[in-house]
Amino acid sequence: MRIAVLKEQAAGETRVAATPETVKKLSALGATLAVETGAGESAAISDDAFRDAGAELGSAAAVVKDADIVMGVQAPDVSALAGAKKGAWVAAVFDPFGQADRVKAYADAGYEALAMEFMPRITRAQSMDVLSSQSNLSGYKAVISAGDVYGRAFPMMMTAAGTISAAKVFVMGVGVAGLQAIATAKRLGAQVSATDVRSATKEQIMSLGAKPVFVESVEGIEGEGSGGYATEMSEEYQKAQAELVSAHIAKQDIVITTALIPGRAAPRLISDAQIATMRQGSVIFDLAVAQGGNVEGSVADQIVEKHGVKIMGYSNTPAHLAADASALFARNLFNFLNAFWDAERKAPELDEEIGDAIRLTKDGAIVNERLKG
Ligand code: NAI
Repeated sequence: MRIAVLKEQAAGETRVAATPETVKKLSALGATLAVETGAGESAAISDDAFRDAGAELGSAAAVVKDADIVMGVQAPDVSALAGAKKGAWVAAVFDPFGQADRVKAYADAGYEALAMEFMPRITRAQSMDVLSSQSNLSGYKAVISAGDVYGRAFPMMMTAAGTISAAKVFVMGVGVAGLQAIATAKRLGAQVSATDVRSATKEQIMSLGAKPVFVESVEGIEGEGSGGYATEMSEEYQKAQAELVSAHIAKQDIVITTALIPGRAAPRLISDAQIATMRQGSVIFDLAVAQGGNVEGSVADQIVEKHGVKIMGYSNTPAHLAADASALFARNLFNFLNAFWDAERKAPELDEEIGDAIRLTKDGAIVNERLKG
């Protein structure tokens, strides 16, 4: 079983899909690991570190040759896979809705595309869930980056020169990223509040010592669809939410937005008119900027200033924490292969529940239910 790891091709992608730790662990299962030269460089992993862990190092073409499995952070272009075994697996993030042509190309080339972001949200798959591991780091980084741009401090400080007050941080969307944003802002000493459409998050917000800001009087507050994800809310709810948020936002220094609805553009949570009510020098970090944005006027990888408020967001937030993001991503992939490893065959075999959920292509066809019809 030959497992290849390529240097990421996408612009701005600094992560790598394996680390020396996972190379060792996969080798211990009986696999041969081949890593492209320089693949770990931007994540602070040297070629020597991979070599010492037991990997073969070589050019992209050399490592991919006869590979049974190719691991990636973002799925490589199908042209990079020439020479891999027929029917080889490619385990990576595929963005199947945004990159339909790539999925088709994988099908045509006969590879088995395994979209790690389609991992079902079930307990046993938690350790394989790249969305969770990367969102957690993104939530942290959003607060740190916003704090860097904010011209004031987070904690209240009493100094000989006088007192400065604590920053007010508001987190909108309390999934994995939002929870970590709350925890990070709390640790830094901010006064933190948060909102979500899923009422189950209220307790989680309070358990982190933050204040929940929720629409109480409108029906349909549950907001929770399958797999713990949010559903789209009624117009009445959206109106009530906008009013509540407007009043609250005007008093905030930093707002972190993280709201996503799977398969749809990110919901618009903050309008230009609301931004105009905020204090000069406030900062908004839009974690959903790459999915269409929660904030009117946000532009990926730029700091846009409107009404004296700085609006920012990264197209690839985990890439700003390359070493840790790679370490967790690589462990997710190891946990995935290890869970399905057949010790006798020294190869993985997927079960139906997880296989059907993540497999996009097989035997020349697109096979995933979510991509059909
Ligand atoms: P997500 O990234 O899809 O969305 C982020 C947050 O935005 C969610 O909490 C969502 O409810 C919220 N949101 C959507 N529209 C909104 C709006 N209009 N206003 C305010 N908030 C809005 O969510 P994520 O981080 O993927 O987590 C969703 C749930 O899945 C959580 O309950 C999480 O604990 C659960 N989960 C379960 C896993 C497992 O069991 N394996 C793994 C990861 C997450």
